[in-house]
Amino acid sequence: MDYFEIEGKNQLFGDITVSGAKNAVLPLMAASILNDRALTINNVPKLSDSMTMGNLIKEMGGEVSFDVSSITINPQNLNIPYAPYKLVKTMRASFYVLGPLIAKFGEAKVSLPGGCAWGPRPVDFHIEGMKKLGIDISLEAGYVIAKSKKMIGNKIVFPKISVGATGNVLMAAVLAEGDTEIHNAAAEPEIQQLCLLLNEMGAKISGIGTNILNIQGVEKLGGVDSIDVIPDRIEAGTFLIAVAATGGKVTLKNVEPKHMESVIGLLRKSNIDIVEGKDSIVVTSNGLNIKACNMETHEYPGFPTDLQAQWMLLMSLASGNSTIKENIYFDRFTHILELNRLGCDIHLEEGCATIKGNRSLIGADVMSTDIRASAALIIAALCAEGSTSISRVYHIDRGYDKIEEKLAKIGAKIVRKK
Ligand code: EPZ
Repeated sequence: MDYFEIEGKNQLFGDITVSGAKNAVLPLMAASILNDRALTINNVPKLSDSMTMGNLIKEMGGEVSFDVSSITINPQNLNIPYAPYKLVKTMRASFYVLGPLIAKFGEAKVSLPGGCAWGPRPVDFHIEGMKKLGIDISLEAGYVIAKSKKMIGNKIVFPKISVGATGNVLMAAVLAEGDTEIHNAAAEPEIQQLCLLLNEMGAKISGIGTNILNIQGVEKLGGVDSIDVIPDRIEAGTFLIAVAATGGKVTLKNVEPKHMESVIGLLRKSNIDIVEGKDSIVVTSNGLNIKACNMETHEYPGFPTDLQAQWMLLMSLASGNSTIKENIYFDRFTHILELNRLGCDIHLEEGCATIKGNRSLIGADVMSTDIRASAALIIAALCAEGSTSISRVYHIDRGYDKIEEKLAKIGAKIVRKK
């Protein structure tokens, strides 16, 4: 299994082009099932998760081809509405195919997703939402069996905001008879792009970017030839935090600053210099006098949970103590143990982490546990005295396209080893 070897204490200078958003690509690939022709998705990062979704669509009879940074999916021969456990267990987002399969075929058999590094990640909101549309759902041997002669629009109120449930239910509701209203809908930019693609296919979705979506059901959807994926705000935020922590000056290209207001605001509050361009961000830091700032994760446009681990590392270097409250996943803290091995001093009490500042980090052997925890460990290693090896980097390959090459290009001493 690959691992990273990192020599710390090198500041970062230069520029990085940010990839397309993983969390936009996956729902767009699921939505391609509803297209009446081949859909080419451009600006796609080379990630194992997109490969997994591609393999799933192929298993169902769809044609999928990968180019350097695009994926073309032709769903015309897709005729097996079945998503097997062997694929769904490797990537939770595979569950997003349930909605489009039901909408297209009136039936689907989709494996329940496996767990993940932190706690159970249920799909009860997805299932309850589908039932509200008149879909008959049963659970058999770890599979969701869904059947529906005709979906009927309805009012759906999610108990709390869910990105996946919003996308999944949306992709069924677009072909329901009558209107659907989704309350506590996710407003994440990735969901906004999904809504825009569906509307370009002929769906009638309004309220995009708010927490109430209105969907007027249509008889059928037409076709879209291509779509360019929005920039990855989590990858971009990861690099901003990396430069803030190590010190240096880096320009991020192909970013959407308006998707990152909460992150940029908190970095500025921590004395990090950020200059926004139309599709670029320049971050400058001396890696010193970082101001400690308490943080709480929230749904968009709040501070994203996918940058919580990275922020935790930055606060370990701040001149003072701080806290983090994780409001999306109460137990998304597996990274604390590994960060403490590198010299952080972080304690957890009832879903709230207390981070001691002014830490001097020392390189050590550590292990990745999930995509974003791995990113925090890489940043910690870049700031640590001496060398660090990070094992199980397959986690990071799920969410970051060649992160070691992008970091090495701006001066990081990081190599991937077999
Ligand atoms: C998406 O996951 C992202 N994944 C996650 O990014 C991200 O952390 C998460 O949204 C929150 O922003 C993709 O987009 C592929 P949720 P998702 O449904 O849709 C609870 C990464 O690192 N919930 O918004 O699975 C759930 O337990 C990944 O790129 C239910 O209780 O997240 C959580 O507490 C990690 N029942 C909260 O809602 C449900 O049926 C939000 O989860 C669904 C969710």
